[in-house]
Amino acid sequence: MRRVSIYELDPGMVVAQAIFNSEGRVLLHAGVQLNENYIHGLQKAGIVSVYIRDELFDESDAVNDIISEKIRLKAIKTLKQSFVLMEKQHQLNLHAVKNIVDEIIDEIMQNPNILVNLSDIRSFDDYTYAHSVNVGVLSIMSGINLNYKQSQLKELGIGALLHDIGKIKIDKNILNKPDDLSREEFNEVKRHAKAGFDILRQHSELSLLSAHIAFQHHERWDGQGYPRQLAGEGIHEYARIVAVADVYDALVADRPYRPAYSITQAISILKRMTGLFLDPQCVKAFLYNIAVYPLGSLLELNTGELGTVVDINRKTPAQPVVKVLYDRNWRMIDPYELDLSKISSLQVKSVLSEGQIKKLKML
Ligand SMILES: [Fe+2]
Repeated sequence: MRRVSIYELDPGMVVAQAIFNSEGRVLLHAGVQLNENYIHGLQKAGIVSVYIRDELFDESDAVNDIISEKIRLKAIKTLKQSFVLMEKQHQLNLHAVKNIVDEIIDEIMQNPNILVNLSDIRSFDDYTYAHSVNVGVLSIMSGINLNYKQSQLKELGIGALLHDIGKIKIDKNILNKPDDLSREEFNEVKRHAKAGFDILRQHSELSLLSAHIAFQHHERWDGQGYPRQLAGEGIHEYARIVAVADVYDALVADRPYRPAYSITQAISILKRMTGLFLDPQCVKAFLYNIAVYPLGSLLELNTGELGTVVDINRKTPAQPVVKVLYDRNWRMIDPYELDLSKISSLQVKSVLSEGQIKKLKML
């Protein structure tokens, strides 16, 4: 299974994972063979990339995600309803949000060894909700690595899911603007942090710390963030955790103005932001959960051989177990497995691009 940009889809390719719209309705089921009409329909629905099944490299179709598709969709729906309810009737369905956070924590706890393998596919119209759910899941995972108690995970999870609720107070035309914002427009967007805090702090059933996540998630470790230019440990740890998840998940998502960064690119950007934007400890706790080379990635090794990732070493995620399928001259060979964590001379040179994979198939 591999992720292919909408521009590189060809008729005949087979969908590996069901594609949903923002209502949670299936646009295309797993196993469907693409044709021109389907590809056009996906484009129109704002889908920018798709997981494709591939006979050649199909080692790992049963990739487990951290949370089930059912819980993910339920969470997206709950958040969407919360935002709409707050905007229209100034009510927060806190009960539903608390329930879904409990369910997410339960699922993550049941799968303690699963790494984040996939970045999900979202259409643009539900970006905020799907993104917020990911930020919630990723933040809870970081909290677990920091040995948080159940009550802390809940405070963190609720605040992370609702961190951007202040956006309902911001002009939609500015929020959805695909190109650069003027200074005034950016100042308007910045208001969402305080606006979110003002909404959440009115609810006494909610921990004030969850509300502070909304208030502080755009503060920077070096004190150059907004709205209050808090720095270092002056920023609550919950907000520092959410800041890391927020940045990372935005990087691995397709946006109207750019395609998604690859996981390796996103990790290196995150590392460059560490100590400036982000708390080093929180980045460390976060990265412990990320599979640098997700299962099924097609890699080139420093020997020139090509192979696909069949297993991930939890302690050394940059050194996965690779099934070698091609020799250095890109000739198909009898496959064999190499555990990169056990052979220090072997390294991953690069992740193969869609163009390279197509070339390989024509050989
Ligand atoms: Fe935000």
